[in-house]
Amino acid sequence: MNKKLTIFISIIIVILLIGITVLTIFKIYKPNKPLNAESPSAYSDNSLSVMKSLDLYETINNKAYSKTIEVLLENNALKKEYLNIYYEIDYVDLNNFSSIINQLIAKTYNSEEINYILTYIKDDINILLNMEYIDILAFKNITNFDINNLDRYLAYQEKNTDYDLATVVTYVNIGLDKEGYSEYTEYTTEEVNNDLTILVNKYHKLPDDYVPNDLVSLSYNENYYLRQQAAQAFESLTAAGILEGVIFYPFSPYRSFETQSVLYNRYVARDGIASADTYSARPGFSEHQLGLAVDVRSSNLSDNLTPEHYEWMLDNSYKYGFIVRYPKGKQHITQFIEEPWHLRYLGIELATKVHDSGLTYDEYYDIYMKTQD
Ligand code: DAL
Ligand code: ZN
Repeated sequence: MNKKLTIFISIIIVILLIGITVLTIFKIYKPNKPLNAESPSAYSDNSLSVMKSLDLYETINNKAYSKTIEVLLENNALKKEYLNIYYEIDYVDLNNFSSIINQLIAKTYNSEEINYILTYIKDDINILLNMEYIDILAFKNITNFDINNLDRYLAYQEKNTDYDLATVVTYVNIGLDKEGYSEYTEYTTEEVNNDLTILVNKYHKLPDDYVPNDLVSLSYNENYYLRQQAAQAFESLTAAGILEGVIFYPFSPYRSFETQSVLYNRYVARDGIASADTYSARPGFSEHQLGLAVDVRSSNLSDNLTPEHYEWMLDNSYKYGFIVRYPKGKQHITQFIEEPWHLRYLGIELATKVHDSGLTYDEYYDIYMKTQD
């Protein structure tokens, strides 16, 4: 064969080989869509064809890639009139994502609200889908907001327009929108025994047969009992008072369910239910049954503290682990009249926090302790 022809054929073969190699490599490594998600052609083929059928190919491809748009296209759920707001919604991996955001937009939620809902109310979106639009971001910084109570918040707010939203949330969580005692949480004996900070009020009941398992006598009277830690703390409180000339005496410490029944029934017979309920807990609902509450008085002439002793108690009892549980001006929250004499043991750390917060224990418990449940 002619030498030139051989060289020519060889060059052609080499060129062909290089061409085939390049094409092969290109075919193998060419991704279906560019890796850069910002690229318009990052959309799947299916999305692209839906886009075309909606006559939105140009519009969407002229903008940055949006996973939200892609999922809507894939689900044939994209509504042209919502296009702009879709771009402001961050995709969240959620069943029925497309349908949810369409419903929220239809209810006039804006993108900021929708992004908040998708992130923080993820598991309970149905609650919002089943009601009219609400200003959901108003609850954003209210840490004890519970979406399950939403309709109660709205109803309570309507009736109490002078309360701010945080107050509405706390009061409803406590149960103040219900009739006292109408519905309550009943604790188990184990829960009560294991938790000195347990909340007992008209909405949180002790088991009828609950008797603390570590009651000990107070030095003042061997028939007066409190749970061991509370008894010890009470001795310290009493001693601290004596050092400052504030001398008080216990007169009603632990009370059994039966004792509380006798007392309550006596008050009802004397004053009627409505009145008795303002100053005496029904059996099962008294902190006295916990063995963590004690009533104190300045003398046996009256079952009360003198105003001076009461002031001292408000300012000092927390240092020994006690709070004044039913203070002045809080009847609408505690559901009991002011009781200067009624001390509740919580332990020094918690009593200090409650004291410093200026809140009742009902409020403090709801705002700061429920999430630890
Ligand atoms: N007096 C308080 C509320 C009680 O009966 O426990
Ligand atoms: Zn009491």
